[in-house]
Amino acid sequence: MLQVARIIGGQTLRGTIQAAGSKNSSLPILAASLLTSGKVTLHGVPDLSDVRFMAEILRHQGAEVSNPKPGTWIICAQEITHRTPYDLVRKMRASICLLGALVGRLRHAEMAIPGGCVIGPRPIDLHLRGLEALGCEVKLEGGVIFVDATNAQGTTINMAGPMGSTVTGTANMVMAATTTPGITRIETAACEPEVGDLCTMLSKMGAKIRGHGTATIEVEGVAALHGCEHSVITDRIEVGTYLVAGAITNGDVTVAGANPAHLTAFLNKLQEAGVHVETGPDFIRAYGLPQHRVEIITEPYPGFPTDLQAQFMALQLLVPDRSVLTEKVYPHRFMHAAELQRMGADILVEGATATVQGGRPLSGAPVMASDLRASAALILAALAAKGETWVQRLYHLDRGYERFEERLTQLGAQIERLPADAMPKDIRED
Ligand code: EPZ
Repeated sequence: MLQVARIIGGQTLRGTIQAAGSKNSSLPILAASLLTSGKVTLHGVPDLSDVRFMAEILRHQGAEVSNPKPGTWIICAQEITHRTPYDLVRKMRASICLLGALVGRLRHAEMAIPGGCVIGPRPIDLHLRGLEALGCEVKLEGGVIFVDATNAQGTTINMAGPMGSTVTGTANMVMAATTTPGITRIETAACEPEVGDLCTMLSKMGAKIRGHGTATIEVEGVAALHGCEHSVITDRIEVGTYLVAGAITNGDVTVAGANPAHLTAFLNKLQEAGVHVETGPDFIRAYGLPQHRVEIITEPYPGFPTDLQAQFMALQLLVPDRSVLTEKVYPHRFMHAAELQRMGADILVEGATATVQGGRPLSGAPVMASDLRASAALILAALAAKGETWVQRLYHLDRGYERFEERLTQLGAQIERLPADAMPKDIRED
């Protein structure tokens, strides 16, 4: 049964919550566990549908996967297949991270090409170009990628694309290079902390990597990797979402376990908007309403993260001025704008730029989630809106936020998760 969230706006959120583990660190790290026949134990993995789905894919590949307690996963990939079928890949774009792991472990991979999604086309040309530069034979037939890395040799490759680097593309190249003979120098590598976390885990497995989390990563191939134990970093995007929840309700929210160094561009914009921010080595506090307009351009790390664009748009609906948000990563990532307009927002989307004329009263309405971060943005706006909001297709939210409504309730929000048929008939999607 589909589920919906029912929110009554107007509550002020106050208190402290603990950051969960990073989805975008956990997914490539789970894939990387296929690089060894040894035991890999992971801690601090968030309880998300995408994580559970990645575990299913690993089991399909032949790995033994267990989840003995919340946050802990144990993977033993002794005998695995190099084939990953379309019906698994098409459900989750991040499954593309298996490509580098299968090439690194088996020197062969056969994987269906993942589809796009609502935030835009999700090409993999940079992934394939990188593998070819490494000396892999790459073929595309019938929607399947065939990679043969028998003759791969360490070399210098550049991951730059029209929108900068590629996060999962870099993850794939690092994983493939761990057992490729010679030294592979990856230039214009993605610098996201999640790539750094993957490199840290691979190093624990015996990989020889330098430049964790920088734009140039050097990998010296080794014969094989061994098992390890690793705790994933916390989720900077989830942290940013909760900080906005505090600010948008004129509240005071602290996220413990947050690393402010992972969110500098976002925190700068939060302060520029007039929200008060306090940080420590492992916490971030945000309090007070936004007062000023901002101009935001999303870019690869360390620029403003595209995954926090929708949430910041919701925040700027409160500022009686004109804020401008430009997407340099996913130019069409504005599906949330139309739904926010249903709540009274004045947003003009022109190409890759959205102009928000804030300060108009927001009123609750039935709205439709379209993707992971958009669904969070709709809930944030609902917290500040007058009256009742129903957010439908909550499965989008569950892909990237662990127990979101429970944790917002801990902070004082009036939000509940209900079966879709709890919605009044006249506003329910059929
Ligand atoms: C990762 O996706 C994240 N997902 C995304 O988070 C995030 O939005 C994105 O990076 C950008 O930060 C995971 O890490 C699992 P990219 P990824 O390859 O790796 C273009 C979320 O909400 N491109 O860095 O797929 C691409 O079109 C999700 O948690 C090519 O042109 O993103 C985009 O414009 C959504 N060719 C830009 O690069 C390629 O071969 C960045 O894409 C690959 C990408």
